[in-house]
Amino acid sequence: MMQNPATPIKAIAFDAYATLFDVFCMDTLAEEYFPDQGKQLTALWRQKQIEYTRIRTLSGQFKTFWEVTRDALIFAARKLELPMSDMQRQHLMNQYACLRPFPENRETLETLVRMDIPLAILSNGTAPMLDIAVKYNDMKGLFTHILSADAVHKFKTSPEVYQLAVDAFGLPAEQILFVSSNAWDACAATWFGFHTFWVNRTDQPAEELDIVPQGSGRKLSDLLPYLQGLSA
Ligand code: LAC
Repeated sequence: MMQNPATPIKAIAFDAYATLFDVFCMDTLAEEYFPDQGKQLTALWRQKQIEYTRIRTLSGQFKTFWEVTRDALIFAARKLELPMSDMQRQHLMNQYACLRPFPENRETLETLVRMDIPLAILSNGTAPMLDIAVKYNDMKGLFTHILSADAVHKFKTSPEVYQLAVDAFGLPAEQILFVSSNAWDACAATWFGFHTFWVNRTDQPAEELDIVPQGSGRKLSDLLPYLQGLSA
């Protein structure tokens, strides 16, 4: 399949965690350590991780996503009164180094590459975290750019982070499709000016933010018919 010249989309940037890489696998190890509370731990961990990125960005107190993620894990265990050892914490953090893509992702990304659409990752993750995940899954050849919020010392939803994709691709925002499974990320990217697609994997309700992503689906592969529809 070649890219249709009529398509308004010239490049695609993907969010990393929960969009490209499956972070829900953390539940398994967390359940092993803390039976019946592992899922609660990982849910609070992720919620706190995102909350800390926002507090730090709003207050100009940047710390890397790796550090923020560790801090969020420490807080989540404390809040749930779980006796987490240093080794357990380290092992849970190390899971970030071996995340797997969702099953349909590789084929979807390969199809997009065959359509000659340049692809990027645009993530809060640190450059080393993203590099490891991409290398571990042998996906390096799929992306022309791996863009980390590290570069601007701010996290999403700061416009400076989204701007990284505009600068890297050298394209106007409206010609870039931004894909995220986080509704808040997809909404903020729409405010920024990207064309956006929300991968609503867990059947979440739409955010009440006065804006909606232009496209949505349940899986990353739903992007393909969406793109075809745009250029029809
Ligand atoms: C990221 C988080 C928000 O990859 O999923 O930026």
